[in-house]
Amino acid sequence: MEKRELLYEGKAKQIFLTDDPDCIIIHYKDDATAYNNVKKAIIEAKGLINNQISAIVFEYLGKNGIPTHFIKQLNERDQLCRRVKIFPLEFVVRNIIAGSMAKRLNIPEGTKPSNTIIDICYKNEELGDPLINNDHAVALGVVTYGELDEIFAIARKVNELLTDLFKKHGITLVDFKMEFGRTSDGQIVLADEISPDTCRFWDSETNEKLDKDRFRRDLGKVREAYEEILHRLTK
Ligand code: TMP
Repeated sequence: MEKRELLYEGKAKQIFLTDDPDCIIIHYKDDATAYNNVKKAIIEAKGLINNQISAIVFEYLGKNGIPTHFIKQLNERDQLCRRVKIFPLEFVVRNIIAGSMAKRLNIPEGTKPSNTIIDICYKNEELGDPLINNDHAVALGVVTYGELDEIFAIARKVNELLTDLFKKHGITLVDFKMEFGRTSDGQIVLADEISPDTCRFWDSETNEKLDKDRFRRDLGKVREAYEEILHRLTK
């Protein structure tokens, strides 16, 4: 597979075309941003660690029946994926209240709700990626109700599988963000990455934060936390 020109550069990743029009190469960078680009830093080796974590997670999900964009890890920082058209929506699953939901609704972080919560955010930086609902998403013309039903069903299954996987490694999956896309043959698949950049992971016994909140909140030992997640997944 030949790496061709840069198609897109995001905050933490670059996307390259390949000689196969249905495949892209995702390159994981060390850049970290938070609060809509207000806070920026390089976390040394983050890209390398997230590439491995995301590859392990996507492989596991694929083996368990989740349709994903992931094909294979190519090297320390690159992975080969199916090219998809991304829905400009972020789907956040919350098992425990934390982060923006805790703040917005004044609920103590760590509260366990009786239900599983799925937020939708509209990916639009100018608007600050606002929280929207199903009707807004359909009104925006970026997704249909049928597609949302399919995405929500996959999201719930992913949550069950990942909660189970991380629990086995002594990690509580507090919340996480997913993105979905459509392949050229029309299949809806899970895309983007799943890593400590896009999840909240708490140590099951101590509730120590092992994710990007260490960077967002200046808690220190960011790289060590990411390494700990990889270490536990590969143990
Ligand atoms: P939040 O509490 O800031 O809404 O974040 C919920 C979860 O989703 C958390 O694990 C971080 C992840 N997330 C992203 O990966 N990217 C984003 O742009 C946002 C808003 C959240």
